[in-house]
Parts: sequence; structure tokens; C-alpha cells
Amino acid sequence: MSDNGSIEKALELQGDGEAGDGSSVDRRTFLTRIGIGACAAACGGAGAVALDFIHPKVLFEPSPSFVAGRRSLFPEGTVFFEREKKVYIIADSRGVYAMSAVCTHLGCITRFRSESRVIACPCHGSVFNMEGDVMGGPAPRSLPWLEVRLNEREELVVDTSVIIPAGTVFKA
Ligand code: FES
Repeated sequence: MSDNGSIEKALELQGDGEAGDGSSVDRRTFLTRIGIGACAAACGGAGAVALDFIHPKVLFEPSPSFVAGRRSLFPEGTVFFEREKKVYIIADSRGVYAMSAVCTHLGCITRFRSESRVIACPCHGSVFNMEGDVMGGPAPRSLPWLEVRLNEREELVVDTSVIIPAGTVFKA
């Protein structure tokens, strides 16, 4: 082959975008692949939106009740603060009871003061006795008592959604 023939062949290959070894892609194939990829991405996005649309929008909230533990974990004199649930579990000579730790004034989380055996609110100074009664400060109501029961494994369960009359001590 002459030099002119080689140059023509090289220009021809360059124009088609093929190197001749079969590893490169011509323009048409490249654009076709881009188009297919774009269509696939669009279909995937539309499918995701459709799935999101038909999937129920349910807010899964944690259960209002929780297992506090076996009765033996709460000997007389115990004042246990369940931080996550904001609940006091208190054991005295009568039995066990649970009270909300949320202040009835503006909802701050109260603290048990072991030295004076009162429950105090750090926000505006409300003070409650161990029955939850207001002893001072702006709190308008007592701390609510919460239902305590035993589950099938003989563990204490506190239900924060069930308010019971103050003084209803669980005897177990
Ligand atoms: S929030 Fe407790 S005293 Fe105000």
C-alpha cells in the first residue's frame, strides 16, 4: 500500500471513531448507549417516585409501655429514674409505683433530690413530694401516676399512656 493509501485509511478510521482493534465505540453506538442510560435513569426515578407514592406514610412511634425489670430490682426505698421514658419508678413499704418525671408547669424534666427526698424542677423551681404532690413553685398539678403491671415473665411493665389515680400502688 502506498503512503497516500495509508493516510486515507487513517483519516477514515479517525472519522468513524474506530481504532480498528475493536475496543473503541463509534459515535452512533456511544449516543445510543447514552440515550438508553438516560431512559433507564428516568424510568428508575419514576419507579422510585411511584413506589414512594403507594407506600403508606405511617409514623412508627415507640411503644408507650416498657419493661422496667424484675420486681426484685426495686427493693423498698428505691427511686429509679428511667431517663429515656422520663419516668420515676419508686418502691416503698406499700409496693411499687411509677410517676411521670415531666413537670406539669412547662414540661421540663424533674430531678430526684436524694438528700431531701423531693422531686425538683430545674426550670422554675417547682418541688414535688414523693407522691408527686406539688409542694411549691408554679406547677399547677401533681405528677401523674402511671400504670404498673406484671408481664408473663413476672417483670414490671410501666405504661406511660395510662394514667391511674394517685396512690394506686402496685403490690407484687
Ligand atoms: S417547667 Fe417545671 S417549674 Fe416550670
